[in-house]
Amino acid sequence: MERTKIAIIGMGTVGTGVAKLLLDHGDRTARHAGRIPWLDKVVVRDITKPRDVEIPEGVLTDNLDDVINDSEISVVAQLIGGIEPARSIMLQLLESGKDIITANKALLAVHGPELFDKARQLGRCIAFEASVAGGIPIITNIGQCLTGNQITSLRGILNGTCNFIITQMQETGASYDDILQEAQKRGYAEADPTLDVNGADTTQKLSILSQLAFGVREDWERIPCMGIDTLDIADIHFADRLGYRIKLLAVANLVDGEVEMSVSPTLIKKGNPLAEVQDAFNAVRVRGDAVGPVFFHGQGAGQMPTASAVVADIIDTVVGRSQITFNNLELWSESNRPISMADANHTVDRYYLRMQVIDKPGVMAEITGILGNNGVSIASIIQHKRENGSSSETVPLVIMSHETTHGSIIHSVSEFTQSDNIESQAVVYKVL
Ligand code: NAP
Ligand code: HSE
Repeated sequence: MERTKIAIIGMGTVGTGVAKLLLDHGDRTARHAGRIPWLDKVVVRDITKPRDVEIPEGVLTDNLDDVINDSEISVVAQLIGGIEPARSIMLQLLESGKDIITANKALLAVHGPELFDKARQLGRCIAFEASVAGGIPIITNIGQCLTGNQITSLRGILNGTCNFIITQMQETGASYDDILQEAQKRGYAEADPTLDVNGADTTQKLSILSQLAFGVREDWERIPCMGIDTLDIADIHFADRLGYRIKLLAVANLVDGEVEMSVSPTLIKKGNPLAEVQDAFNAVRVRGDAVGPVFFHGQGAGQMPTASAVVADIIDTVVGRSQITFNNLELWSESNRPISMADANHTVDRYYLRMQVIDKPGVMAEITGILGNNGVSIASIIQHKRENGSSSETVPLVIMSHETTHGSIIHSVSEFTQSDNIESQAVVYKVL
């Protein structure tokens, strides 16, 4: 059987998984590709560093030129994280005639237009299934299988680290820091885990999905984003008592020709499939005008689930499918009619509010008055009891609103800060 020479750049969590699949399951990849995707070179920074996979002699190198200058290597999996040197390496690889597979969503969210234009100019392709939702084939599904539809909404739990942290906080009561360390040990977290927990990683993934589904070409940093780094265990428990789970949810809705987009901790009713997504699993609910709702669920981070997506892209590129899809999709292309992002202040949702208030007559009336003046209608209100033996004069007050605009909630919260009866900033989360 003929061979196609493959190279991997970067031998971390994902690169190691990809090497394992190519080396240990060559028969499987060859069967699907109709030829052998042959691992010819692996570029690392330090060839003496111990690796979790046995790399055949002569494959490991610390010289990128060994790939660039080998015209027989036509397909490269670029598995370095961050922006630089990943961007420069991608450009060099494209210029030397390689088709590229990447899992680097940060790079695509920031430099997608430049990289995709360059690939189109040079007649090359970039495949990026692993960049969103790890092992779930969401890019292929939106980019190929659902193209008979106008996608009208996307809702996703897109960060395995955050979902792992929230699930473990709820179920084991372990501390946030200990759980984050465990997520790093398991290979879920980014090299800089701040990007996971502050919502940046989820927002970058949402910007990629929204480009694919709606043609939104928006700077990912303009998408309203709140992470889980300030999530308090108290809110997980209050939500639980109300029948909800909190998830870091990415949302994009097509409304009147614009797309409403946001990433924030969100209360989701127990029993909703999104509320039941546990640990490092991800889920995406896509609604198309023809197909209706479609739900995808699977492991969103970790070595082998992500390698599964990268190797599928390698096979598609060896077969020639990726090139066809890449040319037809015209992602981040000038010729694609861009759709703009809607003004976040006008989006309508239900809200969960929690504040610590002085336990005395008139306070409730003040709070409901502020909400009423801003047009926010209350669905339920619970004033929790003071802890037994607590010397604090304040108690937690939890309010669930009816549907209201984001602007009305923001105005109300800013008025709360003027009150001497409300301690600290109110917690505000959307309710799905
Ligand atoms: P990682 O474990 O930090 O691995 C990155 C590797 O790149 C490291 O081994 C690093 O080498 C290597 N590297 C950095 N600069 C290099 C250079 N100039 N030349 C050669 N190698 C270089 O990261 P990862 O988890 O595998 O993630 C890789 C990419 O996949 C990231 O973009 C990430 O966002 C994305 N991703 C990850 C997952 C996941 O679950 N982990 C899932 C989906 C997507 P050293 O070993 O010398 O540091
Ligand atoms: N750090 C990412 C996560 C990896 O936890 O979801 C998968 O993109």
